[in-house]
Amino acid sequence: MDRILITGATGNIGLEVINYLVKLESPSKIFAGVRNIEKAKQVIPANIRIEFVEFDFKNPHTFKKALSSIDRVFLLRPPHISDIEKYFKPLIESFIKNNVRQVVFLSVQGAERSSIIPHNKIEKLITGYGLDYIFVRPSYFMQNLTTTLLPDIKEKRQIILPSGSAKFNWIDIKNIGEACAILIDKFSEFQNQAIEITGYENKNFDTVVSLINQVVTKPIHFKSVNPLAFYRIKKSSGMAKGMIIVMLLLHFLPRFQKEPNISNFYENLTGKRPTSLREFIKRESAKFH
Ligand SMILES: NC(=O)c1ccc[n+]([C@@H]2O[C@H](COP(=O)([O-])OP(=O)(O)OC[C@H]3O[C@@H](n4cnc5c(N)ncnc54)[C@H](OP(=O)(O)O)[C@@H]3O)[C@@H](O)[C@H]2O)c1
Repeated sequence: MDRILITGATGNIGLEVINYLVKLESPSKIFAGVRNIEKAKQVIPANIRIEFVEFDFKNPHTFKKALSSIDRVFLLRPPHISDIEKYFKPLIESFIKNNVRQVVFLSVQGAERSSIIPHNKIEKLITGYGLDYIFVRPSYFMQNLTTTLLPDIKEKRQIILPSGSAKFNWIDIKNIGEACAILIDKFSEFQNQAIEITGYENKNFDTVVSLINQVVTKPIHFKSVNPLAFYRIKKSSGMAKGMIIVMLLLHFLPRFQKEPNISNFYENLTGKRPTSLREFIKRESAKFH
């Protein structure tokens, strides 16, 4: 029986990965590595039978116990952690010390092309230490609309970003979670591969906003601003500097890049079409009012 540690277990992707791992009825034993066990128990439904173990990316003292007897780790980078040398190098070294040899890492589409993004550095650490890996490289989460972008949608009926008419590839995190669960479960079939998980639609924010406006009574607008204006707006709204930089890179750089690649990996793996934007917006429509 494999023992699997899930990091980021209370977040968008981690929760979906756990849901789908449980649905797979795999004989593996699942551990949620969380920094606050009591808080995590309120987020992860009680009927899901998993074990909790203390794990804090910023506290290396938690690594040994969390990694003991673990065979495989689902690893992600919490969005606010960008100092890879400081936080991820000791963690990967700890994998080696504790004989954890297999990692499924949640990266990002295009990570291989940009050495400045943290995911690229983490991928290099994992291969540099000779671990067996699967790099999952998803495109742009549909759920950005219902998380980071939602306060402006609800309060200002607006999406403000420096993205101009750049097209993003939109993927439902449920599709990512499902694919990750299968990849974790069938690790040996896919090991040492980098896999893109995308939806089938490359759309810009004007188009997405018009799709949302088909399901709401009070329309929303898309406002594209230059990077400096974006920085000022977000700083004055209290967003942390690191997070603003992440949002800037994510939304400004695509203006100078070619359209995202579309992958059929999810459909080949599951036999299902990925969620369309129309389906997602309909499913989540209550949140946009
Ligand atoms: N948004 C996109 O379009 C997109 C696209 C491709 C890839 N990605 C990548 O996806 C990743 C984010 O995934 P997500 O959306 O699932 O993240 P998320 O919802 O923000 O969740 C972050 C998770 O990390 C945990 N965490 C935070 N700090 C921690 C610490 N010090 N120690 C232990 N756990 C900690 C959080 O736990 P708590 O409950 O304790 O806070 C939470 O479970 C990022 O690397 C991002 O670059 C994003």
